[in-house]
Amino acid sequence: MSDSAHTPDAPDSAPAPRSTRPKGEPRFPDGPQADPAGSHFERRIRSFQPRRSRVTAGQADALQRLWPKWGLDIDGSRTLDLSELFGNANPVVLEIGFGMGEATAQMGADDPDTNILAVDVHTPGQGNLLNLADRNGLTNIRVANGDAIILLREMLVPDALDGLRVYFPDPWPKKRHHKRRLIQPEFLTLAATRLGPGALLHCATDWEPYAEQMLEVLTAHPDFENTQSDGGYAPRPAFRPLTRFEGQGLDKGHVVNDLLFRRVQHQDVPLREHHDVPSRDHHPEQSGPAEFRREQPAPSDVTEQPTTGA
Ligand SMILES: C[S@@+](CC[C@H](N)C(=O)[O-])C[C@H]1O[C@@H](n2cnc3c(N)ncnc32)[C@H](O)[C@@H]1O
Repeated sequence: MSDSAHTPDAPDSAPAPRSTRPKGEPRFPDGPQADPAGSHFERRIRSFQPRRSRVTAGQADALQRLWPKWGLDIDGSRTLDLSELFGNANPVVLEIGFGMGEATAQMGADDPDTNILAVDVHTPGQGNLLNLADRNGLTNIRVANGDAIILLREMLVPDALDGLRVYFPDPWPKKRHHKRRLIQPEFLTLAATRLGPGALLHCATDWEPYAEQMLEVLTAHPDFENTQSDGGYAPRPAFRPLTRFEGQGLDKGHVVNDLLFRRVQHQDVPLREHHDVPSRDHHPEQSGPAEFRREQPAPSDVTEQPTTGA
């Protein structure tokens, strides 16, 4: 996040005492691993800046206590059975880049029938979100540590998700860093395979040039359609709380734009081959907020879809 237009997170309580652990020993035994996908899934261009961030005593405690229960390292070594991960077959929404997690916890509390798989690389934020979930008795949030691209590509099966939320992704304002921006055509192609038909992709940003880029690439992408009849930005849906970074942007006079696009009906077969996880037999169109319910395609829609013959 070092190149973002925002200021760094302020510590929210006392920092953990300076570690005396011997070199090479994990920072949090039983907690999130540093770079869990390691060199075997190294990505050259990353949408985040690895940071050595201070972890408060409360966050460290939450990481130690709750990671074994609610944490997940993105190591790219297996596909996830989301029903098993959450202990139920409710719809699952992926949130990429939850930061300190306050908005995530709020959405989890507001909609207990939707599971949130929240991913970030930011250790203090992971501890903070675990703490918030614990304090508020939220059982519908899981915290994933690592690169969301590897999570999507290696660990989620096609159609696994009922929604995707990307709120205030790092704007990477310098031109030479634009390639690091998350919302690009290749990312959308990958994300589309993991979203079920009718699932919503919801982005928000306070960086207007990035909002314009998002609108352009999403509008051009064949796997998504704009939910807005005028083809433009959406009003902020009631289910999205203000986020920490949004607040910082608003303080600077930035304009916030939301984008709400729907995954269109699949026209081809899924990309990946390791479908060793059975598909979930839930009916997401019957639960969760209306915005994240999948639309049931009419029978005629299904039969009229062109096939690839594959
Ligand atoms: C600018 S912050 C926004 C945080 C939060 N959504 C908010 O609005 O307060 C963006 C976050 O996305 C995370 N991030 C960026 N790329 C990521 C990726 N590929 N995988 C996981 N997290 C990522 C960063 O670590 C950072 O915490």
